[in-house]
Amino acid sequence: MSHNTIDLNKQRQPLDHLESVWLFGYGSLIYKADFPYLKRKPACIYGWQRRFWQGSHDHRGTPEAPGRVLTLIEAPGARCAGMAYQVTPDTFEHLDHREKNGYLRVFTQLHWLDEPGETEGLVYLASADNEAYLGPDSDEAIAAHIAQSEGPSGPNSEYLLKLAQALRDMNEHDEHVFAIERELLKLINR
Ligand code: SIN
Repeated sequence: MSHNTIDLNKQRQPLDHLESVWLFGYGSLIYKADFPYLKRKPACIYGWQRRFWQGSHDHRGTPEAPGRVLTLIEAPGARCAGMAYQVTPDTFEHLDHREKNGYLRVFTQLHWLDEPGETEGLVYLASADNEAYLGPDSDEAIAAHIAQSEGPSGPNSEYLLKLAQALRDMNEHDEHVFAIERELLKLINR
């Protein structure tokens, strides 16, 4: 699968017939909402975990030296907390462009964190068959990779540090994210 998913997302999942759509963000979409939205609510999804296994050619790295950003990996029993946004379908013009580096939209069930209840929503997933996928590595190696990467959206380290802070602000613990953050801070403070 090509790593530019703009056309693929449009073709496989037209949204124009809907009045509004919930989008679940688990990475930069938690702390960088650069799009208009109707509502914003903390939420979680089950059966998925965050992993710094996706390459970034366009935001936190370059095609020659990709950065490392998040995707979701299926994990039965896992819980992943993030931020949900209710948006109008035209917002996906911007979102599909922003998430074009290997991410496909899929519908999943979102559970609210601030009140009982759930709804269906979209999440951007970068699966192992996209060209920008990097896959697993040790926390130390991922942190070292992040420490040296930079792209048009800024340093890769900023992506990790802002995400970790956003999770703390939500009182959410994600051991994968926090372990890599600890390794990154060791490198920065060395
Ligand atoms: C997301 O935040 O939900 C997708 C991955 C990213 O853009 O960091």
